[in-house]
Amino acid sequence: MNALKMLFRIAVVVTASFARAGEPPADAVARGKYLVSTSACNDCHTPWHLTERGPEPDMSRMLSGHPASLEMPPAPVVAGPWQMVAGATNTAWAGPWGVSFTANLTPDRETGLGKWTERNFIETIRTGRHLGRGRAVLPPMPIPVYNNFTDADLAAIYAYLRTIPPVKNRVPEPRIAPSAAMAGSGS
Ligand code: HEC
Repeated sequence: MNALKMLFRIAVVVTASFARAGEPPADAVARGKYLVSTSACNDCHTPWHLTERGPEPDMSRMLSGHPASLEMPPAPVVAGPWQMVAGATNTAWAGPWGVSFTANLTPDRETGLGKWTERNFIETIRTGRHLGRGRAVLPPMPIPVYNNFTDADLAAIYAYLRTIPPVKNRVPEPRIAPSAAMAGSGS
């Protein structure tokens, strides 16, 4: 009887783990959610809107990046100790590197990170290059800061990002400043 009960329990556990195959482990998702909520990802990757409490990230578009519908005119020229300007949505930035737009981090397959593997994600942060081998990831994405995450933390962030609602939003390409493009061409 006890042996039968034991067999039944094993069967239940095995079935449950098969049922969840392909889904990220729940504890990693919870850890990733905590890290995303404390590491400012929403400050830059969720478009801000004006509420009665003042400007704040529009969580109905959580982590979907710079809105494709918001065409940004050329940035104002800044000089002296002023170096950088940000759009009202906090998703568009202009500085000595040119103009950058925050990426869509939702699992949408065409416009977000839907096709990225965990390895793609970790290598992007580790190298500061798109997918670990493409063009340099531009400011103000805090690559050097996030490089301090452990692999387990980055895997948890990736696991959480798989679970958020996908948003179809094709973020525009960055406008690389001519001087920055020349500086990068030798490397
Ligand atoms: C200060 C603003 C800022 C913060 C905070 C920020 N990002 Fe970014 N992020 C950016 C910008 C701008 C880009 C686009 C850079 C580019 O086009 O090269 C970007 C791009 C990315 C990319 C895409 C890189 C690629 O190669 O396509 C990923 C992934 C990413 N961020 C993840 C995160 C995560 C996860 C967090 C929180 C842990 C975060 N970002 C926080 C500004 C920010």
